[in-house]
Amino acid sequence: MCGIIGYTGVLPAKDILIDGLERLEYRGYDSAGIALLEDNNIILKKKTGKVAGLREAAGDIKSDSACGIGHTRWATHGGVTDINAHPHKCGQVALIHNGIIENYRELIVEYGLNEKLVSETDTEVVAALLDKLYEGDPVCAIRKAVKRLAGSFALCIMFADKPGKIYAVRNVSPMIAASCDEGSIIASDLTAVIAFSKKYFVVPEYHILTLDKNGIKVEDLKGNVVTPEILEVNWDITSAQKGGYPHYMLKEIYDQPEALRNTVTPRVKDGLPYLLDDGIPDDIFKEFQNIMVVACGTAMHAGMVGKALIEKKLRIPVTVEIASEFRYKDPIIDEKTLTIVLSQSGETIDTLEALKLAQKKGSKVLSIVNVKGSTIARESDYVLYTHAGPEIAVASTKAYTVQVAAMYILACKTGLERGIMDEASARDFMAKLMNAGEIIEETLKNANNIKLIAEEIKMAPDVFYIGRGLDYTMSLEASLKLKEISYIHAEAYAAGELKHGTIALITENVPVIAIATQEDVYSKVISNIREVKSRGAYVVLVSEDDEINDSNICDRQIKIPHLEGEFTAFATAAVLQLIAYYTSASKGLDVDKPRNLAKSVTVE
Ligand code: M6R
Repeated sequence: MCGIIGYTGVLPAKDILIDGLERLEYRGYDSAGIALLEDNNIILKKKTGKVAGLREAAGDIKSDSACGIGHTRWATHGGVTDINAHPHKCGQVALIHNGIIENYRELIVEYGLNEKLVSETDTEVVAALLDKLYEGDPVCAIRKAVKRLAGSFALCIMFADKPGKIYAVRNVSPMIAASCDEGSIIASDLTAVIAFSKKYFVVPEYHILTLDKNGIKVEDLKGNVVTPEILEVNWDITSAQKGGYPHYMLKEIYDQPEALRNTVTPRVKDGLPYLLDDGIPDDIFKEFQNIMVVACGTAMHAGMVGKALIEKKLRIPVTVEIASEFRYKDPIIDEKTLTIVLSQSGETIDTLEALKLAQKKGSKVLSIVNVKGSTIARESDYVLYTHAGPEIAVASTKAYTVQVAAMYILACKTGLERGIMDEASARDFMAKLMNAGEIIEETLKNANNIKLIAEEIKMAPDVFYIGRGLDYTMSLEASLKLKEISYIHAEAYAAGELKHGTIALITENVPVIAIATQEDVYSKVISNIREVKSRGAYVVLVSEDDEINDSNICDRQIKIPHLEGEFTAFATAAVLQLIAYYTSASKGLDVDKPRNLAKSVTVE
């Protein structure tokens, strides 16, 4: 949460920072600000609202300083005001921060900082502390300050009397850096850096960076110089642009066929699942007795789809836990459990902490991660990278379907290694999985029909999604998607469970989106649909059925391609994503940046 960027080099920094903030805006968009370092002076501009507002406000800055820092905020401490926006300046120091300083109150008292503070933020306390500790040597002051900070932080700091220099340090909160011909750049993630360099490094925790136009020095807290491992990204700036679509979310929905092919194809050899190139040995699939899936939000829903498949096909027990709950419940796992962690960003703090707990309890952790070199990827015993490319819209779409595909690969590999699936059935399964991209392409042809349905439900205060088995797990994700971007209250219900209470909420014209793609429970779902229909619900049926002309069953139909069992998940996902997208877009909402949210959740 919060996007940070710093640039020092040979080009004017102002536009580089603001362009970078626009790319990082998905990390938080309550307010934004920049600070430029020029002639022993720090020029500050900050503004509540989106980066576009900052760009306008910064129009009056005439400086062509080539050194500055910028921030886009997701508020934690202190309301959304200009004063609370970053950068924070105190005396000689200006800084930006992503994370939470847990002991900021103690620091205020211990160092008598109160008089220096004008905002309500924990961040400003760090600026004040650094200003107090600063005696001309920035690294020395940072070293002393960092030893006193409790919590998570990624900090970029400028000192008024150190022209052309940016200092940075982090604990937990992500930060990457790169140097190139135009100078040195540091940011929360690659989207802000990729325009300059495809090569970068992950800032090591508790190391102090000194950036200037000639490069980046990295040293540990004892002053030893360190050479970080250079990584290279396999996508370019065009992947992080809208590419002609009105919103990133729509583009990312349409990116899914390619994302799926990129994720699945490299994991297939001679038609069978193959993970040795990912450094995942075959043996681990034979050893565990049960699986624990840990993740948050959409990633957790992808895990639930995996559970539905693994339990049904392989008869191996799978538990899915919300990471923030897992952490505090003394989970029942040991070395016989394989923990699968899912995270698009690889930075979600609750998921990261859950991972560490699982390892502490003796469980091996295999993570399914989209962002290369992210913290979760680095901390895991094994990583299966999804290759969705950058996902910019806050609402996750392509990251979800590739996570589902990754779960399917793991399921097939487990089945094969344990002899539960023979080679022929594993080949057949992988061939179908390789076709997942085409399934989505085919399904997306329904977009116009779905758009009309979205128009019909967009003013409803409540929407219910119902399904059974796999379709119930799809409903959970669908309702999250609708809620987060259209602000309509939506709930997912196991279709058979409705009549145990919730059906009381079904009255005339309440939209119920019923998913009925699974043959074994199809007739049961249809019965449940009749129950809501007879209470006046407006029913949208998602199924493989040809036209149903029965107003006792549904008002609208969305047909998905005819598919076997678990492979309907890809088609259903695309339909449900489009319903949410068009509902939000037709309400004129900010689809890509829904209120109160941020893309990467790095606070607990
Ligand atoms: O980066 P992660 O996959 O760990 O993020 C987990 C959730 O915050 C995320 O899936 C969230 O629920 C989605 N943005 C919702 O669309």
